[in-house]
Formats: sequence, C-alpha cells, structure tokens
Amino acid sequence: MANNQCRRFEGKVAIVTASTKGIGLAIAERLLAEGASVVIGSRNQNNVDEAIEYLIKKGLTKVAGIAGHIENTDDQQKLVGFTLQKFGKINVLVNNHGINLRFSHILKVSDQIWDKLFEVNVKAGFQMTKLVAPHIAKEGAGSIVFNSSLSAYKSQPGIAAYGITKTALVGLTRALAMGLAKDNIRVNGIAPGLIKTDMSRPYWEGGEEMEKGLIESQDIALGRLGVPEDCAGTVAYLASEDSSYITGEMIIITGGVQARL
Ligand SMILES: NC(=O)c1ccc[n+]([C@@H]2O[C@H](COP(=O)([O-])OP(=O)(O)OC[C@H]3O[C@@H](n4cnc5c(N)ncnc54)[C@H](OP(=O)(O)O)[C@@H]3O)[C@@H](O)[C@H]2O)c1
Repeated sequence: MANNQCRRFEGKVAIVTASTKGIGLAIAERLLAEGASVVIGSRNQNNVDEAIEYLIKKGLTKVAGIAGHIENTDDQQKLVGFTLQKFGKINVLVNNHGINLRFSHILKVSDQIWDKLFEVNVKAGFQMTKLVAPHIAKEGAGSIVFNSSLSAYKSQPGIAAYGITKTALVGLTRALAMGLAKDNIRVNGIAPGLIKTDMSRPYWEGGEEMEKGLIESQDIALGRLGVPEDCAGTVAYLASEDSSYITGEMIIITGGVQARL
C-alpha cells in the first residue's frame, strides 16, 4: 500500500505525537521511510522502546522517542527539547493524539470527562503548535497536521463528546492556518472514518460478521474498514511540498462514507 520510493522528507525532522501504535506509528513509519528523522512518543516508556525497536528492525533508524503525557505542559516542553537536542531542528509536527474515555449518551458525559477530552484532544495540540511553530518558522517553511475524525462531521451515538472535540479541531486547523501562513507554515488535518486500531477495537473485535455489519450500517463504499497505512500516506502528502498550496483543509479518509458536500 505504501509508496516508499518517495523520499520527500530527506533532511527533514518530524514530531509525531501519540505514536507507539495505531495511526501514529504508521505515520512515523511512513515519514521515516521517506527519509525523515522522526521523534515518537506516548505515555509509557516501554511502549516507546518497543515502537523504536520495531522501526529499527525495519531499517528505519533515524528514530528517537520519549515518554510523556501530551496534555502535560512539562512533557510537551520535554518532547520539543528532546527533538531539538537529538536532531537540531523541526520541520513537521503531526498532532496525532486523541482519546475517547467512555461510550455514553451525550447528556451522560460528566464535566470531568468533558474537560479531559478537550484538554487532550484540543488544548494539547494548540499548546504543541505554539511551542513548535517558532522552530518550524526558523527553517523558513513547514507543515502541521492534525488528526480529527469523521465524527467531527457526523455525530456518532456513544462518542458524541469526542466528536465535538474533533469538530473543534476543524476550527483550530483553520485558525492556525490563517495565523501561521505568514511564516510559510501550512496547517491541515485528516478526518479518518473507522480505522482498525486498538482505539476502535470495540467496533470490530467481534469478528468478520461484526465487521460486515459495520461496513453496511456505516455505508462504507469501498467495502472494508480502514487500516492505519490508509491515513499515513495522506498525512505524508499534507506534510510534504506536494500539498504546497493547501492550508486550513481537512481530508476525509473514510472509504467513501458521505459526510459533507
Ligand atoms: N481508529 C479510528 O477509527 C480513528 C478514527 C478517527 C480518528 N482517529 C484518531 O486517530 C488518533 C490515533 O488513534 P488510534 O486509533 O491510532 O489509537 P491507538 O491505536 O489506540 O493508539 C493511541 C496512541 O496514543 C498514545 N496515547 C494515548 N494517550 C496519550 C496521551 N495522553 N499522551 C501521549 N500519548 C498518548 C498511546 O500510547 P500509550 O498508551 O503508551 O500512551 C498510543 O501510542 C486519535 O487522535 C484518534 O482520535 C482514530
């Protein structure tokens, strides 16, 4: 699926947040395969070590990683400082992180959960962008990519509050794109549909029959669930000069679920 013959990130440095598995790991792998030096991270040091080992075994050696909670401002600073210390500069930031804490009716979401969802899913990406943008600007140009969701556009039962944070990312992406254009920094996002990862496991772990039902009920035109690599190629495109005249946009990656005009 991946076109690893592209070398669009030779000499570039990228941070990919929440990237020890799932979509984040696939994005890190793709950027590395295209020549970038990449810093990965997640909350758990063992997970960081395992992901680095997995990537190095694939011959993708320009990787480093650090553990931290992306919503913690000290950890955010450590992540940026670590990247500069390891690789000397930053050209690309992928704000991949996002959590969903509970499945419930929108009115059953507690204030605490509401605040945590916004803290991680929205505020941390805003804070990371504030920290990283001056370093990208120093390099003359660069790109920031957010990971939103189909649920930003189509409210889904059980995960409505999560969806609202992802809608906020559409606005944040646009606002940052306008604010950072003067520095030649483009800001875009992806809005994935159902991608087979641990996060979406409750939807598909029931096996083939459950998956078939899901494909039908969600109207997935391509007739399959997504895989992390489906997102990684699009993020690489948005992070690269191939998308040089695109900013403030979201690319929907859903296998054809119709979510907006
Ligand atoms: N899967 C889908 O169907 C789907 C659809 C649309 C959008 N998305 C979005 O895609 C992004 C990635 O999701 P995924 O499906 O790839 O999830 P995943 O496979 O469950 O991976 C989540 C990653 O985030 C890390 N993480 C979790 N909380 C963190 C925190 N507070 N600080 C730092 N790292 C943290 C995890 O590692 P640790 O446990 O070690 O921290 C792990 O590396 C999210 O923004 C999600 O909303 C997913």
